[in-house]
Amino acid sequence: MKILLTGSSGRVGTAVATLLAADHEITGLDLGPGPFTTVHGDVADTALINTLCQQQDAVIHTAALHAPHVGHASDDDFRRINVHGTQNLLDACRRHAVPRFVFTSSTSVYGHALAPGKQAVWVDETLTPQPRDIYDETKRAAENACRSAVADGLRCTVLRMSRSFPEPERLMALYRLYRGVDLRDVAQAHALALGSNTPGFRCYVISAPTPFQPSDCVQLLHDAAAVVSRYFPWSPAAFARRGWLLPQAIDRVYAIDHAVAELGYRPRFGFETLFDAVADRGGSR
Ligand SMILES: NC(=O)c1ccc[n+]([C@@H]2O[C@H](COP(=O)([O-])OP(=O)(O)OC[C@H]3O[C@@H](n4cnc5c(N)ncnc54)[C@H](O)[C@@H]3O)[C@@H](O)[C@H]2O)c1
Repeated sequence: MKILLTGSSGRVGTAVATLLAADHEITGLDLGPGPFTTVHGDVADTALINTLCQQQDAVIHTAALHAPHVGHASDDDFRRINVHGTQNLLDACRRHAVPRFVFTSSTSVYGHALAPGKQAVWVDETLTPQPRDIYDETKRAAENACRSAVADGLRCTVLRMSRSFPEPERLMALYRLYRGVDLRDVAQAHALALGSNTPGFRCYVISAPTPFQPSDCVQLLHDAAAVVSRYFPWSPAAFARRGWLLPQAIDRVYAIDHAVAELGYRPRFGFETLFDAVADRGGSR
């Protein structure tokens, strides 16, 4: 396929391009340089986007101002890049009959809905987003633009990915249980969305595989260590060996069941993969 990939110099864009480059012809668009970026420019530049969308089979749109830019970039810049930029791409897809659009959204759109009450929040696609800052608001507005664009015959997939920033090791391991994801799994989700022939609008939570169930949510908020130890009996010793504490409370769980069932998403880099199979998990060589 011929693909326009926005944000091709960014962390997600680079991971997506690394996975897709061998099999697809990628035009990488970004403001800054990167190994997969072939065009330097702005997603909010209508003329440029119009030109770039000619004769593409798909657009993968990862470019955005995001969480680290909150408080640094203006609200107008957030709207211009995240909302107008997305609309620009959708309009160009309609004009040039580009049939597929994959939008990198964020679990951050859930915003206030992530605050736990008496139990951890089970976060799936049925939970209503309640944006709490300009990032959430503009990602949500861009999702809605994607939803509207399917009326023009576009096949739109929104991927609400969870956190994939570099973290201290303990946090990274813990986040893989409930609110984080490896960039290689994020890239896999983009590839699956690209290849999906399901018409219309689709939205999926994309995160690492969680061991937890909705029935764990009360105990997760009050005694998360007990729940983690129950699923991974080797984890107290593995944490102690590193001088780490198991968590007391887990406030949310990102559930990927919908992406697993519909997209065929099979994340490979979960909690266990961050520990040694022999020393920590008692496996054999
Ligand atoms: N990294 C995460 O943990 C995370 C979590 C959830 C969602 N996301 C989403 O993933 C996407 C990519 O995030 P990332 O971590 O790769 O961020 P990043 O900052 O590493 O990459 C974003 C890229 O977009 C480019 N860009 C920004 N404005 C642009 C514009 N106007 N025109 C063209 N290019 C522009 C930047 O130069 C950058 O290279 C974003 O849409 C973000 O909302 C990321």
